[in-house]
Amino acid sequence: MFSNMLSGFLKTPLESMIQLYTSEIVPNLTKRNKTIGITTAIALSLIYIIRDTFFKPPHRLRHLPYFGYFSVTRSLMKGESMFDRGYSVHLPMVNARHDGLYVEPGRFGWEVHVSNPEDVKHILLKTKMFPKCDFNIGNEQGFLNKFIAGPNVLIISGDHWKSQRKVINPAFRRSMPMKLFGQLTQELFATIQVLGGTVDVSDLMMRCTLDAIGRAGFGFDFSAIRDINSHWTTLLLWLFPKRKILHEKLDIFLEKLDQVIQSKRDKLSKGHASNDDLEHERDLLTLMIESEQRGEGALTDEELKANLCLFFFAGHDTTSGALSFAIYHLAKHPEIQERAGAEAIAILGDEPTDNLPTAEEVKRMTYINQVMKETLRITGPVPRLGARTAMQDTMLSGTFIPKGTTVLINVFNTHHSENIWHDPETFNPDRFSDEQGVQG
Ligand code: HEM
Repeated sequence: MFSNMLSGFLKTPLESMIQLYTSEIVPNLTKRNKTIGITTAIALSLIYIIRDTFFKPPHRLRHLPYFGYFSVTRSLMKGESMFDRGYSVHLPMVNARHDGLYVEPGRFGWEVHVSNPEDVKHILLKTKMFPKCDFNIGNEQGFLNKFIAGPNVLIISGDHWKSQRKVINPAFRRSMPMKLFGQLTQELFATIQVLGGTVDVSDLMMRCTLDAIGRAGFGFDFSAIRDINSHWTTLLLWLFPKRKILHEKLDIFLEKLDQVIQSKRDKLSKGHASNDDLEHERDLLTLMIESEQRGEGALTDEELKANLCLFFFAGHDTTSGALSFAIYHLAKHPEIQERAGAEAIAILGDEPTDNLPTAEEVKRMTYINQVMKETLRITGPVPRLGARTAMQDTMLSGTFIPKGTTVLINVFNTHHSENIWHDPETFNPDRFSDEQGVQG
């Protein structure tokens, strides 16, 4: 019996439990007791299996701390946002560990959350070793999938990604369309004056970035700032309509994009440059089509449309969130607002007429740039990146991560970890000054 038990300890707890039960207990039971006993054992085993496989991460990840399904469900039921949960549950764990790692169930099952900057770099630079997980899960015709999960650079991986990036790179490398941004700011101030009184900053920023991405992205004017009731804006701001209406509006939007692409292709094939009124400020769609024409690659209409949707999605909500939060932080910290204002006046002057900044002048606004960096750190619009799969065994901050693990870069944790930042919850643009280095 004892040798049986001893060999049992070398097996998994479940195996040894079943072995002990069948070899030692069952033979000693009466028939009736046997039935009850077997039923109890099966129930116990089931509970054990469910608890062990469903509520705990797989054995290969058990060396990491984890938050189970219960913890996530409890948060969801309490109505906690991702940020509430970040502060109350994740950060204490991240701060307590040198590697900043933990496991939690997410869209792709058990995911390892990564936050140390060196690990983040490792994952993002080794694109073949860490391909992106398939974004398109659940209902393929779901709203988000339809809009954002086409064959664009955010979704695809490996060689396909590389070849698309070649066509898209000129759009990423373009210089700031300063004239356009200047014009939009003038329109914004004019609208604020017309509205008068208290204005809804996040709505205005949304309109502003919608116009920016429309004009800088496709050479298309949504007139979202100038015309508060514009047809396009109501179509695009999607003020939480019912699902069916949402889909209808998305279909119209995608159809309109087809038309925009077609007319741009026609125009460029006839040799007409776009944005004639804004010299050298060609839109992203033009830059992508021109890149194709130079033979740097080719995108099908579907790929071009998928990338435009991505530019639209990635470039509009992110920037409007960043700008709204920058205004919020400036309002909360009048001394910082004053310093930023003084810098703008020192560079642009204090004339009563508009003086739109040049790219070179914007570069010289070091303090305002620090304010933007600190805004992006403390209230960044992208708290998590898309999940990736580790294709090989690897180490992150000295901790073993087995092949097949889903890794998720948790930007929120990176930006709020006490192991990375001094006093992370204080809004302090000076932490980005040259004197203080990026720590502060
Ligand atoms: C504050 C503003 C922005 C933030 C914080 C931001 C953040 C990010 C992040 C974190 C990623 C990586 C996602 C991942 O790999 O999982 C990303 C990718 C991307 N972003 Fe942005 N973004 C911003 C503005 C923009 C704008 C203005 C555009 C375009 C007009 C844009 C277009 C893209 C595209 C195309 C990708 C995919 C790149 C690739 O995988 O090759 N983003 N962005």
